[in-house]
Parts: sequence; structure tokens; C-alpha cells
Amino acid sequence: DAVERGEYRHYMQKEIFEQPRAVADTLEGRIGQHGVLPNIFGIDADPVLDRTKQIHIVACGTSYHAGMVAKYWIEELARLPVVVEVASEYRYRDVVVPEDTLFVAVSQSGETADTLAAMRESRRRGYLATFAICNVPESSVVRESDLRLMTRAGPEIGVASTKAFTTQLAAFALLALDLGRRRGLDHTRYLKLCKELQSLPRFIESALRIEPQIEELAEHFILKHNALFLGRGVQYPVALEGSLKLKEISYIHAEAYPAGELKHGPLALVDEDMPIVAVAPNGPLLDKLKSNLQEVRARGGELFVFADEHAEMDDTIEQGVMVRLESGGEFISPAVFTIPLQLLSYHVAVMRGTDVDQPRNLAKSVTVE
Ligand code: G6P
Repeated sequence: DAVERGEYRHYMQKEIFEQPRAVADTLEGRIGQHGVLPNIFGIDADPVLDRTKQIHIVACGTSYHAGMVAKYWIEELARLPVVVEVASEYRYRDVVVPEDTLFVAVSQSGETADTLAAMRESRRRGYLATFAICNVPESSVVRESDLRLMTRAGPEIGVASTKAFTTQLAAFALLALDLGRRRGLDHTRYLKLCKELQSLPRFIESALRIEPQIEELAEHFILKHNALFLGRGVQYPVALEGSLKLKEISYIHAEAYPAGELKHGPLALVDEDMPIVAVAPNGPLLDKLKSNLQEVRARGGELFVFADEHAEMDDTIEQGVMVRLESGGEFISPAVFTIPLQLLSYHVAVMRGTDVDQPRNLAKSVTVE
């Protein structure tokens, strides 16, 4: 066990630091100078992807959050409507499946009972085809799907998922770009985004270097009972994933909100005992997020803002801390901004003395309903 963990204290920390490699492996041989390479989704994929008019993404836990990011990407780049749903709901609902809808299952293990059952149920619902994004080649989800793209995260031991998530994002980014190209995405923009995706391992590497800063920040959370995570647009699922990580391993109650919803409820909770974590890369929604943060500040909430290096934001926060990082570009920024949130949860959990790799009541793979 100690040998496998090497220099790291926990598997989770090791897996967080393996992400540049895991993402690079997932992109390897799948994207090049001229874009996404042919046949990476299987030789039967072309007619299916050309015909696809809608996408339904189904998953659980962290994999569900990857699907939520994918919705923003696919809708923007390929102009295809995407519905994302947790598998335990999807399987029991009378879902409307329009003609030429692609079913996508996302799962690290490929054995999650609800995801597998949802996929089997989808067979009866008249989809164009089933597509799996999965980390385990011999798993049931992979065996039973028509098309697939394997993540190459390697074995993930920590119950709280880290490298599986960022590799799922890399896989979805390939799918979004490929669908975009098929559906008229401007070629110059396509090539620019392909290049941006190829730089993702490098920007993850650079985000990992701020660990000492995050460790200091984690101290503010040790005695807290609650935390609020805010994001806007594609960073909203990143905030959800950040709050899930904190709950899972530090046992601090955490919730994530799209920042615009703050005034419709959660603002009532904000006081000096409620730390607020905001994910704020540079983008069209930055100004709106800044005004949401103003509302938090006015109510004495302690703010922890993760901002793009180039974002025009005031670095002097009276009640809180601003952490700057290189986002690598708007497209890949959800994967990059995930890193400091993983590190934050990890260090808070270590300081609170919880069992980081084996949090109470949770399982790595939930194979029963
Ligand atoms: C469990 C794990 C999570 C994981 C989820 C879905 O809840 O603790 O880390 O995200 O299952 O697992 P899957 O293998 O389907 O991605």
C-alpha cells in the first residue's frame, strides 16, 4: 500500500497529481495538429454521429457533473440539444426520446447499478445508439454499449473521484469538438479549441503548483459546518463537483449554486460562519459573478475566489482570499478550475483527520440500487 502511494500521503492526493498524465493519456492518439482523429469512437461511429440530433447523458455522482459540463460544450459547439440526468431518476421516468437521439452513459467503473440499469432501459426507449465514456474496458457499461471512448485514468483507488472526472472532461471535449466539426463549427475556431484542449495537461500541471497556497486556505474551513460554492455558466457544474468533494471527504455540509440563484434563497444563509467559494474564470459572465460576490461581501460572508490570472477583478478582498491561476482558455477552464477545488477538499479533510481515501458510508462503486 505504502509502496503504491509512493511519496503521497493518500491515494487521493496521488491521483490528484496524476491528472496531467491521465489527461494526456486520454488525449493521446486521438487529437492532432488537424483536429480530432478519425474513428476514435469506433469504426461504426461516423453514421451515428452524423445523424445525431439530440443527446441524453446519464450518470451518477462525479460522472454526472462531467455530463453537465459536456452539455454546455456540446450545445455551444455543435448546437445539439443535450439533456443530462442522474441515472436513478432517468431509469424510472417516462422519458421522451425524439428521433435520432444518442444515449450517453458516463461511468468511471462501468458497474454503477443505476447507470447500468438506465442504459439497459434505454434499449427499450428507441435511441439511435448507446455511447459509453468509461474508465474500465472490461466493464458491463462498455461491453453493452454500441460506441465508446475510454478514459485512460488508470486505476482510481480513492473513493472520491478526481482523475476520473478530468479524464471524462477530456473525453467529452473530444466528442464536443468532433460533433462541432460535423455540424459546421467555424474551422479556425475548431482548430484553436483543439489546440487549447491539447494544452490541458500543461495547465493542470500549473494549477497543481498552487497546492501550498490552497493548504493555507484550507485552514479557514477546519471548524466550519457549512460552505457554499458558486459558479456561473460552465463553471456551475465545477462548483457542484467542488461541493461534492468537500462533503464526501471532510463531512462539511456544502452546497453549490449557480451564482445568479443566490438571491432566491441561499443568500439568507450567508453570515460570517459561511465560507463561500467562487469559481470565476474570465468570461462573459464574470461581471455578473462579481456583482453576486458583492452581495455576499455585504453580508459578511468570507469569500474564497478562484480567478483567472487575467480576470479583471480586485485582488484585495476584505473578508477572504483571492487565488489566481492560469485557466488555459475558456474552453478547458472547467477542468483546470477543478484542480484547486480538489486540493481544497483534500487538505480540509486531512486537517480534520477524516479517512480521506475511505470516507464513511461511501463506496467506490455502488453496484446495488
Ligand atoms: C460513487 C463514487 C463516486 C462516483 C459515483 C459514480 O458514488 O463514490 O466517486 O462518482 O459512484 O461512479 P461511476 O463509477 O459510475 O462513475
